[in-house]
Amino acid sequence: MILVVVRIDDTTWSTIVTEHCNGSRQSPINIVSASAVGNETLTAFTFTKYGDNSTMKNIKNTGKTVMVMLTSGVQVTGGALSEAYDSLQFHLHWGNGTSVPGSEHTVDGTRYPMELHIVNAKSSLIGNTTAAVADGTGLFHLSLRPDEYINITHDAISLDEFLEGVDRTKYYRYLGSLTTPNCNEAVVWTVFKDPIKVRQDLVIHIDHNSTSDLMTNVFRNIQPDNNWVVTTQGRPASGASTMCSSLGPMALA
Ligand SMILES: *[C@@H]1O[C@H](CO)[C@@H](O)[C@H](O)[C@H]1NC(C)=O
Ligand SMILES: *[C@@H]1O[C@H](CO)[C@@H](O)[C@H](O)[C@H]1NC(C)=O
Ligand SMILES: *[C@@H]1O[C@H](CO)[C@@H](O)[C@H](O)[C@H]1NC(C)=O
Ligand SMILES: *[C@@H]1O[C@H](CO)[C@@H](O)[C@H](O)[C@H]1NC(C)=O
Ligand SMILES: *[C@@H]1O[C@H](CO)[C@@H](O)[C@H](O)[C@H]1NC(C)=O
Ligand SMILES: *[C@@H]1O[C@H](CO)[C@@H](O)[C@H](O)[C@H]1NC(C)=O
Ligand SMILES: *[C@@H]1O[C@H](CO)[C@@H](O)[C@H](O)[C@H]1NC(C)=O
Ligand SMILES: [Zn+2]
Repeated sequence: MILVVVRIDDTTWSTIVTEHCNGSRQSPINIVSASAVGNETLTAFTFTKYGDNSTMKNIKNTGKTVMVMLTSGVQVTGGALSEAYDSLQFHLHWGNGTSVPGSEHTVDGTRYPMELHIVNAKSSLIGNTTAAVADGTGLFHLSLRPDEYINITHDAISLDEFLEGVDRTKYYRYLGSLTTPNCNEAVVWTVFKDPIKVRQDLVIHIDHNSTSDLMTNVFRNIQPDNNWVVTTQGRPASGASTMCSSLGPMALA
């Protein structure tokens, strides 16, 4: 696999691609765990063919990321999604080797070494990406943040192996956008709370070759959150406790 040097200059996107990159629900964001609103509808997911070790079709270097295409029939349902979503591909975002972390989402201000996105589209749109990016919830991204590298010694791996050790019932949910132009505001984001381990050989392609072969800093900067609501499992805070917490500082003053 040959990689090329790419420095993502996302500072100009909002002026070059005016359609969506300057919108009001842009991703990624910094997730403030204490501000996540409890929502009891955020139930568990059902994953179809995530345990199948023959779903990874081919690996594609897009010049912007490394993408692994999935075979058809890989699906996600549940998790308060409006319908079944087909899992199409996964790809990675990273920084510069081990020295510069490169996750897109940050949690309580912490940027993780990398971020893995499993990209899904509404099954009813049967692969029509034009329709998917035009639909406010047409796409569904699962976000996993590796904080440790492991070696998997066999070739055929399944998506489940990425999700190993992750409590799949604990996640943050918000409505955002694609993190590359045209930044379409079409993505239901799910960011799992537990970090994951990632295959070291995926990292070796990125990490250990000569600098001229490296793609570095393949992530978009944090976008203004515009008070967008991030939800998570649990009950919404009651009116009483909200009032208490806002009255506290007043009492002290
Ligand atoms: C985004 O840019 C376009 C073109 O400059 C402008 O019409 C639109 O109002 C902008 N949207 C926002 C949310 O700033
Ligand atoms: C809870 O989530 C559901 C679906 O995900 C959404 O329709 C509803 O508005 C949310 N409720 C709150 C209080 O955020
Ligand atoms: C990445 O890190 C290497 C080694 O630390 C450094 O030489 C290089 O300039 C960095 N590249 C970028 C784009 O920051
Ligand atoms: C894809 O969706 C777009 C927008 O909804 C529609 O105009 C187009 O005809 C669809 N294409 C196919 C091949 O169905
Ligand atoms: C993983 O494999 C690489 C290359 O074979 C090796 O350099 C590295 O030490 C291994 N890491 C672990 C944790 O076994
Ligand atoms: C892939 O899955 C098949 C069927 O479950 C199993 O027989 C085979 O050993 C697996 N291969 C690897 C390399 O894990
Ligand atoms: C990295 O270097 C190894 C050993 O020289 C080579 O086999 C591999 O193809 C290189 N990978 C990339 C992505 O250039
Ligand atoms: Zn991505």
